[in-house]
Amino acid sequence: MAETIVEVKKVVKSFKKSAKQELLVLDDVDFTMREGEIVALLGKSGSGKSTLLRIIAGLIHPSYGDVNYRGEPVTEPANGIAMVFQNFALMPWLTVLQNVELGLEAIGIPRDERRQRALKAIDIIGMDGFESAYPKELSGGMRQRVGFARALVVEPDILLMDEPFSALDVLTADNLKSDLLDLWQQKKTRINAILLVTHNIEEAVEIADRILIFRSDPGRIRAELTVDIPHPRSDQDPRYRELVDQIYTLMTTSPDRPERLLAAGGKPREIGLGYRLPDVDISVLTGLVEEMADPEYAQRIDLPELSEELSLDVDDLLALTEILEILRFANISKGDIELTPAGRRFASADILQRKKIFAAHLIRYVPLARNIRRVLNERPSHRASEERFLGELEDYLSEEEAERVLKVVIDWGRYAEVFAYDYNTGILSLDNPE
Ligand SMILES: Nc1ncnc2c1ncn2[C@@H]1O[C@H](COP(=O)(O)OP(=O)(O)OP(=O)(O)O)[C@@H](O)[C@H]1O
Ligand SMILES: [Mg+2]
Repeated sequence: MAETIVEVKKVVKSFKKSAKQELLVLDDVDFTMREGEIVALLGKSGSGKSTLLRIIAGLIHPSYGDVNYRGEPVTEPANGIAMVFQNFALMPWLTVLQNVELGLEAIGIPRDERRQRALKAIDIIGMDGFESAYPKELSGGMRQRVGFARALVVEPDILLMDEPFSALDVLTADNLKSDLLDLWQQKKTRINAILLVTHNIEEAVEIADRILIFRSDPGRIRAELTVDIPHPRSDQDPRYRELVDQIYTLMTTSPDRPERLLAAGGKPREIGLGYRLPDVDISVLTGLVEEMADPEYAQRIDLPELSEELSLDVDDLLALTEILEILRFANISKGDIELTPAGRRFASADILQRKKIFAAHLIRYVPLARNIRRVLNERPSHRASEERFLGELEDYLSEEEAERVLKVVIDWGRYAEVFAYDYNTGILSLDNPE
């Protein structure tokens, strides 16, 4: 078995939110990276991926647990570990060459050697001829190449990449990915392992030898898949498609939602008052339902296909489908989604009918909306301050999360005319509806 490079052992990380509140971001994360492998870490936004990467890089410390690099505990940034960031992080006042040299200055490499090594790194990454350009003269793709050169120049043992392609357009990202895979396969660098953080399922399947799937709240590894497809990989390869489907299934089913969404027997069950409803825009939700009702689709729609068809980010698609499921407008199973009869009625209704259907399902299936409506009905004034509901939500959620969830439900309630809300006073009422 190949030599171990990095060991992450029972890492827990929480951040202080206030004097009495802690946010648990990573819980009991355990994995090992060995020589010769590219590992992708795949998870939803906010699941703690960047936090984990920063812990491995020695930029922050875990609350509990250990990270070892080549058998030694990581307590500060280690020499053999380099990182590429999503937003390039270049110094605008320095040239390409100076930006690349920067990392070497920090580790005390003499001037001549710095220059020589920087020129070589720039050459390897295909930025030859741009040494004296400033970042603002470069396209996003070129800037990210400089970001890579800056990581490569220190000749790292292991390269950590935090969504390095997500700020680039698709073609630029594809081009950079294939160049990077070439460098790796032809061993043009001394890098022995790569850890790639991404929330793009296809990107993980395209690049990695092993995929770790992260669950959220708190972040924890919930599945590990091996990708045994030789490079170059085609996204038409049946094994490739199968893996993509399998990952969608994992990310849309147990145990992330299931403990929350599915009761025994796979039937959806009621969510609780403190359920962390995702932020979803009603017009996007409506658009999605309309699209799904389009006869060009089969009854059961493949989620990866839908994501591609609509150019929707996985995170966004998962948030939308979660809400459709909560509202009983759709059912999800095994990476497929299907509209329920109510979902189909919603799709073909006119605007007013739609609001009515939405209102009925909102009150029936979202306890917070039901609760607000009940309180407003029961009070003789038919008014209540949002503070009343915030206080209640804070039994389950942090202050910030409570505000976010209440805002989501207020937006939906206003759309469906279940209640009204005054921005200036924070008063909920039955003023407009009916
Ligand atoms: N320094 C910090 N202080 C407090 N909370 C933090 C800090 N850094 C991160 N968090 C919180 O930890 C959680 C995880 O953040 P992190 O950036 O690691 O997620 P991520 O998986 O990288 O998300 P994304 O895909 O959006 O980049 C978030 O709720 C974030 O707000
Ligand atoms: Mg991140």
